[in-house]
Amino acid sequence: MPAISCSAPGKVILCGEHAVVYQKPAIAIPVFECSTKCSIIAKPTAPHDETIIIAPNIALKCHLGCLIEKHPIRVAINLVLEKLALDHLPVCEIRIESTLPTAAGLGSSASTSVALIRSLSTFLGHPFADEEVNQVAYEIEKIHHGTPSGIDNTVVTFAKTLYFIKGQPYEFLMPGKPITLIIADTGIKSSTSKVVLEVKQNYLEYPTKFERLFNQVGDISVSVKKAFLTGDLQLIGKLLTENHLLLQEMGVSCDKLNELVDCALLNGALGAKLCGGGQGGNMIALVNADQAESIAAALKTKGAVNTIITHLPAKG
Ligand code: PMV
Repeated sequence: MPAISCSAPGKVILCGEHAVVYQKPAIAIPVFECSTKCSIIAKPTAPHDETIIIAPNIALKCHLGCLIEKHPIRVAINLVLEKLALDHLPVCEIRIESTLPTAAGLGSSASTSVALIRSLSTFLGHPFADEEVNQVAYEIEKIHHGTPSGIDNTVVTFAKTLYFIKGQPYEFLMPGKPITLIIADTGIKSSTSKVVLEVKQNYLEYPTKFERLFNQVGDISVSVKKAFLTGDLQLIGKLLTENHLLLQEMGVSCDKLNELVDCALLNGALGAKLCGGGQGGNMIALVNADQAESIAAALKTKGAVNTIITHLPAKG
């Protein structure tokens, strides 16, 4: 019997992280250079409790029943079954393979959820529409991140650049000119939920300062959106670097992220910033396409453990 396979991309946040949790706008971009693939194959002759989950990049290989009740994979499977009003899963092997680094701000948890929900609903004969996939993936993001804005699951589900405000209809964007980004990994693992909680505690302690920061970041996202649509790359770059300074002020950067941002700018990037939860993980640099290789090489020399060059085609 052939396996059912579905894939989901990774993502970067172009601007607006953290402020997006407080209803400010943000822009996220899917990254197709790294992705998650989930394959499901029926095992009709296996004993009834022998559904097996294999996810090498989180070192997981066990029977479904051995996962704790609140494990995101188990919850995702139960939510899909619930939505389809099914009381059990036919015995199968579920294999999840991802080229996304975990705890690095590239959306590995959302990508895993989306690939799993899509393949499982297809395996069960009722492939979910994107909106249903997104709803279930958001529930799983809550397990991973506590109080997620929903931007990660949405950009990964729809695999399109997204202008996102929590609780409002989202908008898909196409740039007026092709965009080239370098994504560079500090190699430092960082928990988004921990950083989001830290920001919340600081916001409660210094509300005036943090309201100003969230508003300034939100204004940057509004300006980036306009520059993105007209293809004003110089302006986008300048705004991204300003966004990084505000994220530094929020306390979510770290020395390695700052060094990589400075290195990208010194080597000719149009703008650079940390991306995602911060305090580790990845940074992004907006670059002219012909400089991408040389700036990526400079970032590696400066200590980036990995770089990805991603291109967004222009509208039309
Ligand atoms: O999952 P990460 O590390 O890319 O961070 C998501 C962006 C945050 O704004 C920090 C959190 C959220 O839920 O929007």
